[in-house]
Amino acid sequence: MEKRKLGTQGLEVSALGLGCMGLSFAYGTAVDKQHGIKIIREAYEQGINFFDTAEAYGIENEELVGEASAPFRKEVVIATKFGFKDGRAFNGQDSRPENIRAVAEESLRRLKTDVIDLFYQHRVDQNVPIEDVAGTVKDLIQEGKVKYFGLSEAGAATIRKANAVLPVSALQSEYSIWWREPELEVLPVLEELGIGFVPFSPLGRGFLTGAITESTSFEATDFRNNLPRFSEENRKANQKLVDLLSAIASQKQATPAQIALGWLLAQKPWIAPIPGTTKSNRLTENIGGASINLSAEDVKKIDDAFAQTAIQGDRYPSHIQQTTGK
Ligand SMILES: NC(=O)c1ccc[n+]([C@@H]2O[C@H](COP(=O)([O-])OP(=O)(O)OC[C@H]3O[C@@H](n4cnc5c(N)ncnc54)[C@H](OP(=O)(O)O)[C@@H]3O)[C@@H](O)[C@H]2O)c1
Repeated sequence: MEKRKLGTQGLEVSALGLGCMGLSFAYGTAVDKQHGIKIIREAYEQGINFFDTAEAYGIENEELVGEASAPFRKEVVIATKFGFKDGRAFNGQDSRPENIRAVAEESLRRLKTDVIDLFYQHRVDQNVPIEDVAGTVKDLIQEGKVKYFGLSEAGAATIRKANAVLPVSALQSEYSIWWREPELEVLPVLEELGIGFVPFSPLGRGFLTGAITESTSFEATDFRNNLPRFSEENRKANQKLVDLLSAIASQKQATPAQIALGWLLAQKPWIAPIPGTTKSNRLTENIGGASINLSAEDVKKIDDAFAQTAIQGDRYPSHIQQTTGK
């Protein structure tokens, strides 16, 4: 698979990474460990060298990534994230320097590694100056415990302030055909500062693949039950987006998931999306998205088609929305 450079500090990753969150967290019952290991190793065998996890995805998720990647640890880039109170996504932020240091030690232990390749702040903490966060990660880099610094869901002003203390290699935020807010302010700042971009939920948490319809019922523990965009009514209204993607996909002899990923890869050469899946066949399908090569004309056709269609429903409920950084 093609490799892409994120930032100007030397970080290079496969054009598509593997989002490992859904193997243990957020979308219903976790997979069993052996299955999770199999998916991660299949991803590596098929050209992926970039694996995404976080403290907040549960102890098991980092442990799974660590165990699965052990045979090829030196050849892969492992990204993890700090910054929630007690490591729990619904507890609010905690990017105090002492917590960042504690999470680094725990993540190193769970990942069974001596260095974290890419360490992201998971959400901006309004109570801790971003300069202090960057300064702490800078110290961890000097101590050899971390290689590169990242932010997640940070806004333009925060990115600038952080980057002035320690160059940011990558920003990870939601970006896909149906969530394009980063285009307004964030992508221009990343381009100006030479920072890479890692779109999360690049398949719209599964919706853009066509596998989810208004009649899909999610497990009780599936986080999508809480998302306005996934209400039955909004799924029904947004189905026309998937129909559009499917029509474009059939012209290209591809699948909607592959078009959704190809569209992201075509935006900028410094973008590396991290789709997640728990299934081998879907993993292979998604990896096929890296070979789609959409032309500027193809991208414009897709954009024009989507511009005609209003997307229904917020991506997050309002109490979560407020926690994203500016
Ligand atoms: N920084 C952050 O705050 C943040 C937030 C969310 C996610 N992330 C990261 O981003 C990664 C990816 O995001 P995501 O998992 O939220 O969303 P995603 O990659 O857009 O979608 C994942 C969902 O799509 C389904 N899927 C995947 N490939 C498919 C295919 N070819 N056909 C049909 N369905 C398919 C998966 O179900 P199956 O498992 O059944 O295939 C899963 O439910 C996560 O794993 C995580 O590492 C970060």
